[in-house]
Amino acid sequence: MALWIEKYRPQSFDEIIGQKEIVEKLKAMAQKKEIQHMILSGPPGVGKTTCAVVLAKEVFGQAWNQNFIELNASDDRKLSVIQGKVKEFARTKPIDSPFKIILFDEADSLTQEAQQALRRMMEEYSLTCRFLFSANYQSNIIEPLQSRCAILRFQPLSKSDVIKLIDRIAANEKLEVDSEAKDSLEYVSRGDSRTLVNLLQSLSNVSKKIDAKTVLQSAGLMDVSKTMEGLKVALSGDFKKSREIFSSIIESGVNMKELLISIFNIISSTDVVNDKIKTYVFEKLAEVDYRIVEGATPFIQFQAFLAFLSSLK
Ligand SMILES: Nc1ncnc2c1ncn2[C@@H]1O[C@H](COP(=O)(O)OP(=O)(O)OP(=O)(O)O)[C@@H](O)[C@H]1O
Ligand SMILES: [Mg+2]
Repeated sequence: MALWIEKYRPQSFDEIIGQKEIVEKLKAMAQKKEIQHMILSGPPGVGKTTCAVVLAKEVFGQAWNQNFIELNASDDRKLSVIQGKVKEFARTKPIDSPFKIILFDEADSLTQEAQQALRRMMEEYSLTCRFLFSANYQSNIIEPLQSRCAILRFQPLSKSDVIKLIDRIAANEKLEVDSEAKDSLEYVSRGDSRTLVNLLQSLSNVSKKIDAKTVLQSAGLMDVSKTMEGLKVALSGDFKKSREIFSSIIESGVNMKELLISIFNIISSTDVVNDKIKTYVFEKLAEVDYRIVEGATPFIQFQAFLAFLSSLK
């Protein structure tokens, strides 16, 4: 069975979701065939490696495989191994191109020493090679490497990006994903498409119909779906019913601190509460949190919070 993260890996710039400015920049470079050394930095699963490979395909066409090499810095950690590979790759002439491209994946996991060695390699081979470094933390890359590179900062996928990706896969795999399930998928994946695509694949093995409950269950976050429901009910103005829902959550053993954090996360990362009133809700949440720490009765404070949510309707 093919892995969906490979099946749905974008093959061209037009298939890359989000990262608009970066894609524009890379497209322009590919067109002019003028590639800079670059650091592709950002969280996991946002398209760093994908962009590097697409760039190579666009620049080199048929010969991309001969002119492009991907070295995983954390696998090939031994410096001599990396050096050997770079040397061997850089030694042979590029095919139909003035240069080749070397991608160092996870360069930020290399030691300072190894990075210094990379810097020397860059100097030695920069006539015939362009160096790309992917990194989750740009700050873990030594300054001399940073200063030799253009820096592309990738962002987590936005909500509409996540939905675009879900719709693309759902259409092709004939999945039915309702809108609550999409919210939950967005919440669980936090803008990381690798997590999202993997989760969709494992859910599709169980059923072609995907709902919020199964999403949250399979991500090990059962109480989150109930919390979300309780919030929605409160926001619809039904104080009594929301109190019932949260009572049963609390009775199931969730402590108040966890619950408040979970509510904070839900509100931060979903549209359950609209942007206009988000700040008020956060303020209220902070107030309740503080009062509980100061010794007020947690459930009374929490009820006051629910009453506040219900009054927003
Ligand atoms: N912008 C995107 N548009 C569409 N699919 C994407 C995008 N980013 C990632 N994906 C999907 O997620 C998978 C992993 O992406 P990729 O390998 O590019 O992540 P990465 O940013 O290099 O992450 P890491 O830091 O973990 O190496 C891809 O195969 C693809 O299926
Ligand atoms: Mg990568």
